[in-house]
Amino acid sequence: MTAEELLAHADAAAAHAYAPYSNYQVGAALLARDGRIIAAANVENAAYPLGVCAERAAVAKAASDGLRPGDFQAIAITASPCGGCRQWLHEWRVEQVHFRRADGTIATYASDELLPETWDLPEG
Ligand code: THU
Repeated sequence: MTAEELLAHADAAAAHAYAPYSNYQVGAALLARDGRIIAAANVENAAYPLGVCAERAAVAKAASDGLRPGDFQAIAITASPCGGCRQWLHEWRVEQVHFRRADGTIATYASDELLPETWDLPEG
């Protein structure tokens, strides 16, 4: 599956965004290693900080279907992921991150490139 194809799933999900406060629709589509595609959109709330980004909604949906960190080959996002979502993509070890830049071109990174020297909970 190409980045463009996965991004088309993200675009379709963005159409379902619940974003009455920002009017900014975001879509994200995860590609699982088993071929499943899990897509979601941002879901806002009148108590603004309680809103959920599209990327986190997609991960929560996939987790609820039983998927786990390391199960994801890629994610495509209709916009650059925010800092908090980059931490989520690190946690879920999403291998490749594609997103559409403001100029319409598609960027591709490894999730750890998007968040260098990432914090992890020390073991023990
Ligand atoms: N948003 C996302 O869904 N993902 C991001 O990575 C950045 C921001 C959403 C949150 C909010 O609903 C809207 O975009 C405006 O901030």
